[in-house]
Amino acid sequence: GLALKGRDLVELTDYTTEEIQYLLDLAIELKRKQKAGEAFRPLEGKTLGMIFEKSSTRTRVSFEVGMFQLGGHALFLSKNDIQLGRGETIADTAGVLSRYLDGIMIRTFGHENVTELAKYADVPVINALSDLGHPCQVLADLQTIQEHKGALRGKKLAYVGDGNNMAHSLLLGGVKMGMDVSIASPEGYESDAGIVRQAREIAEQTGSKIAIVRDAREAVENADAVYTDVWASMGFEEEQKVRELAFKDYQVNEELVKHAKADYLFLHCLPAHRGEEVSAGVIDGKNSVIFDEAENRLHAQKAVMATLMA
Ligand code: CP
Ligand code: NVA
Repeated sequence: GLALKGRDLVELTDYTTEEIQYLLDLAIELKRKQKAGEAFRPLEGKTLGMIFEKSSTRTRVSFEVGMFQLGGHALFLSKNDIQLGRGETIADTAGVLSRYLDGIMIRTFGHENVTELAKYADVPVINALSDLGHPCQVLADLQTIQEHKGALRGKKLAYVGDGNNMAHSLLLGGVKMGMDVSIASPEGYESDAGIVRQAREIAEQTGSKIAIVRDAREAVENADAVYTDVWASMGFEEEQKVRELAFKDYQVNEELVKHAKADYLFLHCLPAHRGEEVSAGVIDGKNSVIFDEAENRLHAQKAVMATLMA
């Protein structure tokens, strides 16, 4: 059997292929239950603290609603409103919160804040986005691809744009599930070399192919799923103008997606900027599954919380 209870979710590499597949299948089952009106409340009396250092629509709402649907309760903790924002250490915050809560979710800038919280907390810690990764989003993305395309193994995922937190978690999660992953980024905006190296090691085990390229068309060639994200992530807003120039050949538009499979899926973690990283025609077109993806944040995270915290 799988031993998942009490574990952290810092990145999908914390889990085996089988464990991720278990979470994806559970997410699909919990989605079915929710739509059928079948109650599933394994977290009755349990609480999740949600530390936010950055803005959020999907993550905040899906975790809070998910916790409620599982029978528990979630607390929104804005970093500036708790003593963490006034210099209380992560270690002390972790020690204190562990005495009240059954799980902690954190969205933060520095990834070391997530790993430090996970180190000092006695309860499961879930990474809800750092500058390095966004594994909860990728669980929802993988669920969405599986729902639309079946088994993940051997499917090609193409990511076009900033080699950011999304690119990292998609690369790691994708190869972990045996997908082929291509990433096209402009010079100076490539993914972290250490993450790529880690992904290549995983790919040797799972048989995935990885292509890190410059040309967006090459990345998208014959893809089953085409993914993009904003050009300026949270914390990089002042680089917006410079990045618009650097990324001008990296828009996912009708011309680019001609290179993908005819029945390709378009994915985007959202929020999106139509006319920048994606054209309105693509994101609002028939291949786009952005709202399934957003919905699946709820189901995927319910699977994670029910598994780690019950
Ligand atoms: N995709 C995502 O994490 O969205 P939010 O920033 O709205 O939470
Ligand atoms: N790369 C984006 C993702 C938002 C969900 C950011 O970090 O702002």
